[in-house]
Amino acid sequence: MRSKVVTIDRHIIDQERSYPDASGRFSALLYDIALAAKIISREVNMAGLIDVLGLTGETNVQGERVRKLDAFSQEVMVKAMDHAGHLCCMVSEECEDIIPIPERFDIGNYVLLFDPLDGSSNIDVNVSIGTIFSIHHRVLDGRSKRNSPGTMADCLQPGFRQVAAGYVIYGSSTMLVYTTGVQGGVHGFTLDPSIGEFLLSHRNIRIPDPPAKVYSVNEAYYARWSRQQQRLVDHFKGVNGERGGGYKSRYIGSLVSDFHRTLLQGGIFMYPPDSKAPRGKLRVLYEAAPLALVCEAAGGRASNGSRDILDIVPGGLHDRTPLFVGSASLVNLAEQYLELPDESAGQGSES
Ligand code: AHG
Ligand code: MN
Ligand code: MN
Repeated sequence: MRSKVVTIDRHIIDQERSYPDASGRFSALLYDIALAAKIISREVNMAGLIDVLGLTGETNVQGERVRKLDAFSQEVMVKAMDHAGHLCCMVSEECEDIIPIPERFDIGNYVLLFDPLDGSSNIDVNVSIGTIFSIHHRVLDGRSKRNSPGTMADCLQPGFRQVAAGYVIYGSSTMLVYTTGVQGGVHGFTLDPSIGEFLLSHRNIRIPDPPAKVYSVNEAYYARWSRQQQRLVDHFKGVNGERGGGYKSRYIGSLVSDFHRTLLQGGIFMYPPDSKAPRGKLRVLYEAAPLALVCEAAGGRASNGSRDILDIVPGGLHDRTPLFVGSASLVNLAEQYLELPDESAGQGSES
C-alpha cells in the first residue's frame, strides 16, 4: 500500500498545528522558500541546454546576457522572499552587506540567511549543487523595534536560536530537507516535476550511528593541516601506526552533496582549518549553522573541532569556521584527536 501522498505545504500546516502559538507567517515563509527552490531547480536542470553555464558572457537564446547560476539563484531567492512581509532583512553569501526589505513592502519579524547556490564550481560538470537556508526570529530587545529594518544584531545570532534551517539539493532528483529544531525532526521532500510539488519522501530522518565508515575531507590539504588533524585522517586510513582503518573516503567538493550523503548514510564530513585558512573555508551563518541544526535534529553532532557549531556567535556576516559534522560518535572521535597536546600528537605539520 503506497504511503499517503503528503505535500510540503500539507506537512508545514500539520507541523504548525503542533505549535499553537505559531503564526501562519512562518509557514508562509517556508512555502516561499519551496517556490524559490522549484524555480532554481528548473534553471539548474536546464543549465546545459540554454547556455546558463559558467561566465560565458554570451547572450542566450532569449538574447539575454548569460548570468552565472549563482547570480540567478541569488536573484530568485531575493525576489521570492522580499515582498510577503515575513522578513526584516536577508543575508546572502553573494552580498557583502545586509539585504534590506524594499520600502514599498511590509517588514516582518524573521531573518533569512542563505547560500543561494552552494558548490557552484561544480555547475559546469553536472555535479549536484544546492541552496542552504537558515531562519532566525529577529532580536526584539528594545533597540530594534517591530516594523523597523533588520539590523546586524538580528543577523549575528548563534545557531541554536534558529527557528528553522535546511537545504535543497539539485541532484538526480531535487530534494528539500528542513528542520524546525530537535523537537520537529528532519524531513525530506522530493520534487515531482510533473506536478511541481515537493512530496514527503523521507519522514523523520535520523543519522545512522553506528555510522557507515565513511570520512569526507579534501586530502589535498593534508600537508597544511595540524599534526592532530593529520593523525585523525591517518586513523580513518589505518596508516602511520594509527589502528583505525576500514573507512571509505568520499569527497564531492559540494558541501550540500557531501552533507546529504553523510546525513542519510552516517559518517563524518570535515572542512578543517589549515595553514592557509586558519578559520577553515565554510561560513558560519549560511553554511555551517543551518547544516548543524539539521544534523543535530537528526541525532548527529556539528563541531568546529572543540565546541558546538550552534553555540558560535559570529562577529561578521561572512565569518568562517572549521566544520566537523556527522554521526556523533565520529565527531566526538575527531574532537578527541584534535584536543591532543602537540607533544603527544607528534612532530609539527609540514606547512
Ligand atoms: P560555494 O560554491 O557556495 O562557494 O561553496 C563551495 C564550498 C562547499 O560547497 C565545498 O564543501 C567547498 O567549497 C569545497 O572546497 P574545496 O574545493 O577547497 O575542497
Ligand atoms: Mn557554499
Ligand atoms: Mn555559494
